Amino acid sequence: MTKSSAPGKIILFGEHAVVYGRPALAVPVTQVHADVDILDSARAGIWIDAPEVNLRAELNTLPSDHPIASVINNLFFLRRVSPFPNLEIKISSTIPVASGLGSGAAVTVALTRAVAAHLGFPMTDEEVNAFSYEIEKLYHGTPSGIDNTVVTYARPVYFMKNAPIQTFKVGQPFTLVIADTGISALTKEAVEDVRRLWMNERSRWETVFDKIGEISFTARRAIEAGKNELLGELMNENHGYLQKMTVSSPELDRLVEAALHAGAVGAKLSGGGRGGNMIALVEPEKAEAISLSLKRAGAKHTILTQVL
Ligand code: MEV
Repeated sequence: MTKSSAPGKIILFGEHAVVYGRPALAVPVTQVHADVDILDSARAGIWIDAPEVNLRAELNTLPSDHPIASVINNLFFLRRVSPFPNLEIKISSTIPVASGLGSGAAVTVALTRAVAAHLGFPMTDEEVNAFSYEIEKLYHGTPSGIDNTVVTYARPVYFMKNAPIQTFKVGQPFTLVIADTGISALTKEAVEDVRRLWMNERSRWETVFDKIGEISFTARRAIEAGKNELLGELMNENHGYLQKMTVSSPELDRLVEAALHAGAVGAKLSGGGRGGNMIALVEPEKAEAISLSLKRAGAKHTILTQVL
């Protein structure tokens, strides 16, 4: 059997502005992950079993634009796999779908690695990342590539589109509470809406993106220097710009307010917005209480994570 796993992710700073070439920071969330197991099969065909999305089917019966079929077919085409082998592929994931935690990217990365390794052509991280970015583009319009990058390398990344990836060191570990609004939101739509704003008033939004880029830059320096007290303020400021960009929502704002009210050092939405998750920077001893306050304010579930 061949196994592969990829973590979820959160964006700490810089979502949306990153699509326009500004830097953003993202970290893996290892508490949630996508896992793929592959076995040679005695029956003909490539059988996919993905219980979380109620999928149990043979590859050829899936529409060609199905995300899982896309990964397998494109990979086979790229590596000239012929004839197709007989396989049983089990895909499971604990990452909530359409919530800003990178579930799609994690399934793509884990599936790509598992198929490649099982068929005897293991791929480097660079190859997996480049391939996964092509798949992301099929489903997310104009993605920056940050999601597939952080999920592939499973390390904190300081990301800029079309630039070599940079990881960063965490001077002093810090604790985050991630809270899910329970509302599914398509990143693609939020990205398209921001594009419309930008098309109508380019210079205004370029200035906003610059400000967000500066926040990401300053946050990276603060994290590396272990000056975590600065991060809260930067998160709040970043959330304000995301609100202006119309990608927050009443539910996200309510959770951000609740976290701050309960003593979080800072809070913001994370990812595409409109629904999905928010993050709160917390002192470790307050994490449980803040998590409880977030649930009272409507969070469907919360994850406590340490950024190391
Ligand atoms: C989605 O996780 C982050 C966005 O900036 C989109 C992207 O970078 O592709 C909203």
